[in-house]
Amino acid sequence: MAKLIYSAISSLDGYVADEDGNFDWAVPDEEAHAFINDLDRPVGTYLYGRRMYETMVGWETDPTLANESPLMEDFAQIWQAADKVVYSKTLEAVSTTRTRIERDFDPEAVRRTKVLARGDLIVGEPELAAQAFRAGLVDELHLFVAPMVVGGGKRSLPYNVRLKLDLLDERRFGSGMVYLNYRTRRTR
Ligand SMILES: NC(=O)c1ccc[n+]([C@@H]2O[C@H](COP(=O)([O-])OP(=O)(O)OC[C@H]3O[C@@H](n4cnc5c(N)ncnc54)[C@H](OP(=O)(O)O)[C@@H]3O)[C@@H](O)[C@H]2O)c1
Repeated sequence: MAKLIYSAISSLDGYVADEDGNFDWAVPDEEAHAFINDLDRPVGTYLYGRRMYETMVGWETDPTLANESPLMEDFAQIWQAADKVVYSKTLEAVSTTRTRIERDFDPEAVRRTKVLARGDLIVGEPELAAQAFRAGLVDELHLFVAPMVVGGGKRSLPYNVRLKLDLLDERRFGSGMVYLNYRTRRTR
């Protein structure tokens, strides 16, 4: 069965974006980006909230992104090869291939996708991830901790979720970013 992985780049104090919605401090450098490319290479499906999808869509629709460097081109190819599920009540159409819209987050549908999927699933947005955490669907965390304290903003991990975790792997990068890979323990 495929795993559902919550993947995020967070400040040390636990935010994916600061109070102004800014996350330029979270942009990975080349070393971390190459590592993320390798982590994402076997991923079969990305689960996105509508806004996150709109942030990512350029990896297929805007060739200037991929043309920036071989590293960016590699990521664009990885992203285009994966399936995308966009959760939205308002989005009428998508502008990328291998993409479908879901009007509600249905834990049972995600569970079925995990059984049938050809590769692991990544949920990369905290609010959507919160719904997956609460449904007991998250198997692993890929948490990148940026060397920043931002004091507030959008939390990387939800309130009211309590989980025991096993550390599977860790890695430090020259930029001061740290990668932590945890597996969630099943408590029920
Ligand atoms: N740290 C980083 O590296 C990084 C990178 C990129 C972005 N970010 C940050 O990540 C955040 C993105 O999160 P966000 O909350 O702004 O946007 P988001 O979750 O990607 O999008 C929110 C939208 O998703 C849809 N949605 C969410 N749950 C749903 C459900 N259960 N059913 C149906 N639709 C659902 C809704 O769309 P509709 O309104 O269409 O119904 C909702 O308005 C931003 O704050 C951004 O700054 C951080």
